[in-house]
Amino acid sequence: MSVKYIPEPFRIKMVETIKMLSRDERELKIAEAKYNMFNLRAEDVYIDLLTDSGTNAMSQEQWAGVMRADEAYAGGSSYFKLLEAARDVTGYEYIQPVHQGRAAEKILFGLLLREGKYSISNMHFDTTRAHVELAGARAIDCVVPEAGDPSKRVPFKGNMDVEKLESLIKKYGAENIGLVVITVTNNSAGGQPVSMRNVRETAAVCRKYNIKLNIDAARYAENAYFIKQREEGYSNKSIKEIINEMFSYADMFTMSAKKDSIVNMGGLLGIKEDEQLFSSCKVRTISFEGFISYGGLSGRDLECLAIGLYEGLDENYLRYRIGQMEYLAALLDDAGIIYQAPVGGHGVFVDAQAMFPHIPYYEFPGQALAVELYKEAGIRACDIGSYMLGNDPDTGEQLHSAFEFTRLAVPRRVYTQAHLDVIADALIEIKVRAAEVKGYRITWEPPVLRHFQASLELVG
Ligand code: F0G
Repeated sequence: MSVKYIPEPFRIKMVETIKMLSRDERELKIAEAKYNMFNLRAEDVYIDLLTDSGTNAMSQEQWAGVMRADEAYAGGSSYFKLLEAARDVTGYEYIQPVHQGRAAEKILFGLLLREGKYSISNMHFDTTRAHVELAGARAIDCVVPEAGDPSKRVPFKGNMDVEKLESLIKKYGAENIGLVVITVTNNSAGGQPVSMRNVRETAAVCRKYNIKLNIDAARYAENAYFIKQREEGYSNKSIKEIINEMFSYADMFTMSAKKDSIVNMGGLLGIKEDEQLFSSCKVRTISFEGFISYGGLSGRDLECLAIGLYEGLDENYLRYRIGQMEYLAALLDDAGIIYQAPVGGHGVFVDAQAMFPHIPYYEFPGQALAVELYKEAGIRACDIGSYMLGNDPDTGEQLHSAFEFTRLAVPRRVYTQAHLDVIADALIEIKVRAAEVKGYRITWEPPVLRHFQASLELVG
């Protein structure tokens, strides 16, 4: 094992008790949950890796902010503090708080997309895809081919395939492309970073065809840290300078602040300079989210976000944060467990298809591994594969995902080195008995975003 655990650049002032149920109890709980991880009660989970979204531990400064915040309906001081912080970090003039990332998507995409239009992205996250489709348009993923090979270690596996982007624009007609979305980091491809060069080249293609470029900025700080580590010319730049440059190439951003801004709730919508577009966004915000100076959030959420935007940029924190992923990934390397490598920014995406080559995509290997992890050690993870991808909106047929991952998303500032060891040990145990593990079939599913609610049963 060549990777050392990077010590936490903080100490712990408050704790939350967690417990592990017995194996018999866990088997019962997951069966009762119809093998859907979202149906489990959190108190029945020992290590919760379902998501890194909104599960962050806030700092003492943020908790102090909870008390200091201004709860005025209009024009509260927390709102202005947030505007100032978001303008400073992103460099954008027009900032709208919203309750979370998908609210920003709903507000913005509804203005740019409709039937007959397309959205092209290095990869749409599932809610992003849903909002493209709810607006009547179609979502096309256009990630570099290396992303599809978990064992291939390249520095920026989350990149947009820029050549393919241009050919897609020509194929569908520039006038039909409502927007291009660059997701940093690329969550669905494994939290893989996007290079500055790739953002710049994507922006150049968008400019050439007069198409708006949106940054899906959920994990902008982790992406910037990777750029600083891996891309030539950035090692001496600050994280904030890198983020400023990254945002400067796009026209707008939608941000789930529940990730890199280290809060439990919040989102932002930003427009660089198109005042008219921002004005339309404000109208939609008032009807969907609430008045513009709170956007569906309480004053304390705005205040904590203003603080978190800066805490997320701290390099000591980011080194420890990415270090956690690298530590866990190195334990898996030692055990010969394949994951999306090099490891991404917010979690380890285990290659469930490699673990279970006998389970076909339509029996959801990623979901099967998630269930096993819960049974093995009370760990909750989720499928990022065919189960999550769902059915073709036109034909209703099960889509075949390019990968079958089980995502171990690590909440920020929450778990310790020993927790990571428990996770690795559980995976190693499962690998030993992998050939006996069976797949799942869906017994009920809703029409969109089915993985949150579907019921499953064991095959055979
Ligand atoms: N974009 C990306 C890349 C995301 O990862 C998410 C959420 C969203 C948009 C939507 O943001 O949840 O605040 O509405 N991702 C979470 C996850 C849910 O678990 O990866 P939201």
